[in-house]
Amino acid sequence: MVSLNIPIYTLLSLFLVSTVDASKDGYQIYHADDFPVQACTGVIGKTATFFGSDVKNGFCDVKNQPALGTMAECIEMMMKYKNKDSRKLFLASCKKSKLTQDEYFAALQNATDFGFVNTTAEKGFNKTEIYDKPILLTQMKVDRAYDAVATRWYNYNYAQWFGIALMCYWFGVLFISGAINLCYFLFPGFIKSFKGKLVNTFRLYFTLPALFGKTHVHHKAIFKHVFVMFPTRLESIIVFGWFAMALIMCCTNYVHVVPNYIWPDRSNELGRKVADRTGQIVMWLMPPLVLFTGRNNFMQWISGWPYARFVYIHKWISRIVFFMSIAHAVGMTYNGKKLGKYESRFLEPYVRWGTVSIACMGIMCFQSLMYFRRNNYELFILIHVLMAVFAIGGLWIHARPQHFHYFMIATVSVWVFDRVIRIARLASFGLRTAQVQLIANETVKVTVPRPAWWVPFPGCHAFIHFMRPTCFWQSHPFTIVDSVAETRTITFYLKVKGGMTHGLYQYLSKQPSQTASIKVSVEGPYGNPVAINRFESSVFIAGGNGVPGLYYEATSIAKRFGESRPIKFYWVIRHYRSLDWFYQELQKLQDLPSIKPIVYVTQPHIGLTEPIETNITDDELEQEEEQEKKSDTYEKEDYIVKRRKQMSHVEFREYRPDFYKIVADEIKETVTPLAIASCAHGSMVDDVRKSVADHLNDSQYRIELFEQIQGW
Ligand SMILES: Cc1cc2nc3c(=O)[nH]c(=O)nc-3n(C[C@H](O)[C@H](O)[C@H](O)COP(=O)(O)OP(=O)(O)OC[C@H]3O[C@@H](n4cnc5c(N)ncnc54)[C@H](O)[C@@H]3O)c2cc1C
Ligand SMILES: *[C@@H]1O[C@H](CO)[C@@H](O)[C@H](O)[C@H]1NC(C)=O
Ligand SMILES: *[C@@H]1O[C@H](CO)[C@@H](O)[C@H](O)[C@H]1NC(C)=O
Ligand SMILES: *[C@@H]1O[C@H](CO)[C@@H](O)[C@H](O)[C@H]1NC(C)=O
Repeated sequence: MVSLNIPIYTLLSLFLVSTVDASKDGYQIYHADDFPVQACTGVIGKTATFFGSDVKNGFCDVKNQPALGTMAECIEMMMKYKNKDSRKLFLASCKKSKLTQDEYFAALQNATDFGFVNTTAEKGFNKTEIYDKPILLTQMKVDRAYDAVATRWYNYNYAQWFGIALMCYWFGVLFISGAINLCYFLFPGFIKSFKGKLVNTFRLYFTLPALFGKTHVHHKAIFKHVFVMFPTRLESIIVFGWFAMALIMCCTNYVHVVPNYIWPDRSNELGRKVADRTGQIVMWLMPPLVLFTGRNNFMQWISGWPYARFVYIHKWISRIVFFMSIAHAVGMTYNGKKLGKYESRFLEPYVRWGTVSIACMGIMCFQSLMYFRRNNYELFILIHVLMAVFAIGGLWIHARPQHFHYFMIATVSVWVFDRVIRIARLASFGLRTAQVQLIANETVKVTVPRPAWWVPFPGCHAFIHFMRPTCFWQSHPFTIVDSVAETRTITFYLKVKGGMTHGLYQYLSKQPSQTASIKVSVEGPYGNPVAINRFESSVFIAGGNGVPGLYYEATSIAKRFGESRPIKFYWVIRHYRSLDWFYQELQKLQDLPSIKPIVYVTQPHIGLTEPIETNITDDELEQEEEQEKKSDTYEKEDYIVKRRKQMSHVEFREYRPDFYKIVADEIKETVTPLAIASCAHGSMVDDVRKSVADHLNDSQYRIELFEQIQGW
């Protein structure tokens, strides 16, 4: 962990520096003193022309008496109701022209003596031709001009504050959960003292349950093809709070000024104001959006949250960013159409790049749906990264003329930083030769020697690159177990699925004894330690290939605390062959008597001779179980008998377990605070969660659920 501190601080300071940098230009907070001169210049300019468009500071020119006189008239009116410092501000703005207060008053006197001309009544008056008499303004016109300018820039201020608030919301939530997470490690007694009816009720309704019913990890299919993974209720509440904030901040505090000399029409005024607001909030959201999806995200280390939860937040921020960008574009269209600027604006590259950016964001939101990720993860990543490059690049070009591109510098540096760390991690691990073996036709066991300083910890995962021509660029996450057989060696257990793992499967099944040496590089270790070992008793519930992480956790507790910590270890497998790939590890449990291993074999009779079908979904699994029937060879029975004899310390149960009930019983029976850790396929993990939530009150002790999810 110490080695991680360096990137934390670097990234933190980098992030801060780049956001502070952003404050130099595009980011600005406006004050009341910024408005009078701008409002007078604007409203006079809309009424008459006193000098050519190439003249700078024309109103400060003593030689242009009608211009200065009219300006002085406006400024004096401004002082009446809007800003008492207007004269001072105007004179300060004329520093370069060396205009004195006396000259100002003289021009005002001259114009008053001459008489202000009512342009509406003046025959042959032409707004666009240079005029040489002072013109008449009304108090109302001047006041509304001030309002038009002030509301325009106050709207910018709102955008900045709201953007900062929406960004800080996440940092606030993350720091709070980081503090709570730290309490689990430093003051576990304090956490365990939160128990009893009131606390349990709160946990039952807010922190523990899935959003609806019990579906959380299990991917629910809506309309057959649309898969969604429901978050937990707490996650939903946190995201919903932010969502509501974002909505309110985009929809409120707009002021409509009549008459508005800048935007004469209500729809083009509001269109512009909505566009200004949403566009600038998006700028603030871009750095955290990218930060949260990085593997080396310092907020992950601070909060102790799993990557999957950051991905969930990333998704919601990106959806909001997309919708705000649409609102920005629609607002600008309203604004431009009414002003007749739409076509000319659209010829500008920065507007076109803004459009490109929105289109890319739209594609990204769509193709990140679960359906596409499940079917072809590599294609998803490829398109996602490509689109992200164009979305961010487009936004950079789009924001540049207004100097808001500093936010993009921050965004890009966060991204680049993550990539640099990733490459550094790969390089420091180096290329090593792994022993790769296909076992039981369903799991690929990968054994890699590791550098001495590269220390894994229970629950961590790493990304493996197999240096094979067909897949060396792919990096897939797998849970690490520090090898039980050799020192300085790590092992991974890869379930054979449809993509890269299937390629390995095909390759290995053709090798002698289904074993090969393959060069690999490993990026990691990632993840955060969890506080399971702070609880006096623990129950581990693993399904299939979810076992490695929990095994590592359980054995490290048993090694450290010995008999004083009773540990129940449940593992559910479909058939006895699965024992093969975890055989050594299970045998090691003999030396750790505080762990009580119980293995459920749900289909004891299949898979012993015929190849095992991999890659089936939960639902197919259920179907298959129904039609499960034994065939008859003796060889199979022999195998089972032999295995069970070798593992006399393991209790075997040959049926499908009901974890809702098992967890309920464990909670009832515990005589100490209890940690329940689960890692299995969706519906099993969801049963455990539901059961914990429902049975909190059955124990007088603190019951804690630690759910490990292998997916995002
Ligand atoms: C933190 C973590 C720990 C994991 N630990 C293990 C483990 O110990 N053992 C194990 O068998 N599996 C583990 N997995 C799952 C494993 O990453 C996927 O099964 C593997 O990437 C599938 O590769 P494939 O190309 O064969 O997948 P495909 O058949 O193409 O896809 C199968 C599923 O895996 C997902 N997937 C594919 N590639 C990736 C990727 N690069 N990153 C994330 N998800 C991906 C797909 O969305 C799909 O849902 C873990 C996943 C995570 C997130
Ligand atoms: C007063 O204004 C008129 C025209 O507006 C100009 O011709 C004249 O020079 C001005 N007088 C002085 C003293 O500047
Ligand atoms: C200017 O002239 C128009 C048209 O004659 C008149 O309606 C208006 O009231 C005048 N404005 C002022 C401020 O006198
Ligand atoms: C005003 O002057 C410009 C040229 O300076 C001319 O093109 C325009 O037609 C004039 N407008 C009116 C109403 O006379």
